[in-house]
Amino acid sequence: MLQISNLYKSYGKFQAVNNLTLHIPKGDLFGFVGPNGAGKTTTIRMVCGLMLPNSGHIAINGIDALARQKEIKRQIGYVPDFFGVYDNLKVREYMDFYGSMYRMDSREIQRISDDLLDLVNLSDKKEAFVDTLSRGMKQRLCVARALIHNPALLVLDEPNSGLDPRARVEMKELLQNLRSMGKTIVISSHILSELSEMCNSIGIMNHGSLVEAGRIEDVLEGVLGSNQLVITLDEGRETALRIVSEYVGVELDSAGEHEIRLTHNMTKPQIARMVGEMIAGGVVVTGFHKQEGDLETLFMRVTGDGQ
Ligand SMILES: Nc1ncnc2c1ncn2[C@@H]1O[C@H](COP(=O)(O)OP(=O)(O)O)[C@@H](O)[C@H]1O
Ligand SMILES: [Mg+2]
Repeated sequence: MLQISNLYKSYGKFQAVNNLTLHIPKGDLFGFVGPNGAGKTTTIRMVCGLMLPNSGHIAINGIDALARQKEIKRQIGYVPDFFGVYDNLKVREYMDFYGSMYRMDSREIQRISDDLLDLVNLSDKKEAFVDTLSRGMKQRLCVARALIHNPALLVLDEPNSGLDPRARVEMKELLQNLRSMGKTIVISSHILSELSEMCNSIGIMNHGSLVEAGRIEDVLEGVLGSNQLVITLDEGRETALRIVSEYVGVELDSAGEHEIRLTHNMTKPQIARMVGEMIAGGVVVTGFHKQEGDLETLFMRVTGDGQ
């Protein structure tokens, strides 16, 4: 459905998107996650035809998005990361305005916008001024207007930011509803937990590159498969660290006062031997266990380089 290949975008010398390749199948609810500044908005703007990349390709339903921008814009509904100001515009007029941009006739606009406002639960707000709506309502209105030309792909840039928990739940239900109607949806956020419970696939972006992507289960399995061991100790930290450093295939993730975390590819007997050596060397080992993988841990690991 959406194929991004070797996409690059720089602002001056700064590389905001760095060789991004990503495929999102039809019908996915794809979560695009990464810390602020990762390059999500820049990528989304290029996908939506609002900005040109320095190089790379974007195809939507097999159509070259960069060469055939007009055609592509009919395939995409875009909910930007800011709402804008609409002085003295009523909800109904707002929908009319966006409908007219797609050269739809007024009866068609009215019919479709009635359906859409119903879908986003704003039917009773048609005569309300847009600026008087709550943030959650504005966000849902924005989704309705992004759908007015019946696009196959809906792209939302941080739609949950500034929403209270109830409005977030409503947004989640709305997006899942749209997915069941056959839309392909891309939603970005800098908060992983917001996406992991609603999306079926995710991509994690950091410093302009995609560091992890796939179906949630597969990404999780990848994390579970990577062996992290946590050793807790009361005394002998230095000895423990020395012993760890003597083993090959062991990478130290962190070394706290009473806790050492490492990623390894050792067998069980090797682990037992290493811990045994620690105890024999006078380290007071109070416990050791395998760290269960979760998406949050993965996210912290792949994005947590402090830059
Ligand atoms: N118009 C611009 N000019 C210069 N730098 C920009 C511009 N827009 C974004 N950036 C920089 O590019 C990086 C990626 O930004 P952005 O795509 O907005 O990230 P995200 O949406 O993931 O927070 C950031 O470091 C940001 O400061
Ligand atoms: Mg952004």
